Amino acid sequence: MKNMNLPLHVGIIMDGNGRWAKKRGLPRKIGHGEGAKVFKKCVDYCIELELNYVTFYAFSTENKNRSKDEVDALIKLFDEYLDDIRKMNDKNVKLRFLGDLEFFPEKTRKKMLDAENATGNNTGLKCNIAVNYGGRNEILHAVSRIVSENVRELTEEEFGNYLYTSGMPDVDLIIRTGGERRISNFLLWQAAYAEYVFSDVLWPDFKKKDLEEALKAFAARNRRFGK
Ligand code: IPE
Ligand code: IPE
Ligand code: MG
Repeated sequence: MKNMNLPLHVGIIMDGNGRWAKKRGLPRKIGHGEGAKVFKKCVDYCIELELNYVTFYAFSTENKNRSKDEVDALIKLFDEYLDDIRKMNDKNVKLRFLGDLEFFPEKTRKKMLDAENATGNNTGLKCNIAVNYGGRNEILHAVSRIVSENVRELTEEEFGNYLYTSGMPDVDLIIRTGGERRISNFLLWQAAYAEYVFSDVLWPDFKKKDLEEALKAFAARNRRFGK
């Protein structure tokens, strides 16, 4: 992997937890629990592969419309993960939460902000977790701020600074597990010239070799950026 042309910023749509559980006759939330374990392992793979930026899609603005039971189970998983943030610090990971965090209970939101502050000076992997994230919501949120600041004109780069990913490079590669071939409201602005790798593997079955395969596929792509 070392001498390969690696993407600077990888986005990962972690899809397929529900189907993974269904196949085993288990409730969907068990699939999310397995998915959370794989997410933690995947952060380690990203560190081992020396990636710079990774953004995990964990919970979309539309996912709020799922049953209360499932949404509560997901919030509980975020909460449990946030209790373990010291591990991220030991790994020199810099965490950021992308999305409309107002949705989360006060205690969870505080833990998210504390985690960002606690890891803010880390210089290793920049790890973003998109929660209650929607690309359209993000763009609207940016426009609202621009209007409220009476800004009349701005460049694409300046517009980017109003997004949740402010200060980060555009996403180069988006990996989606779970077999669907769609973007589902992920990084709409940032993905203008992204490459896509779709995998039929359900997220709880995702392994390091699957990530490596996606990176190899990316390295073989011919990106032209319209030129
Ligand atoms: C992805 O798995 C995790 C979230 C969207 C929170 P799903 O829950 O969408 O699993 P499937 O697609 O129903 O299998
Ligand atoms: C996308 O998966 C969102 C996340 C993985 C967090 P969904 O399962 O919500 O997307 P659709 O419904 O298949 O488009
Ligand atoms: Mg899904």
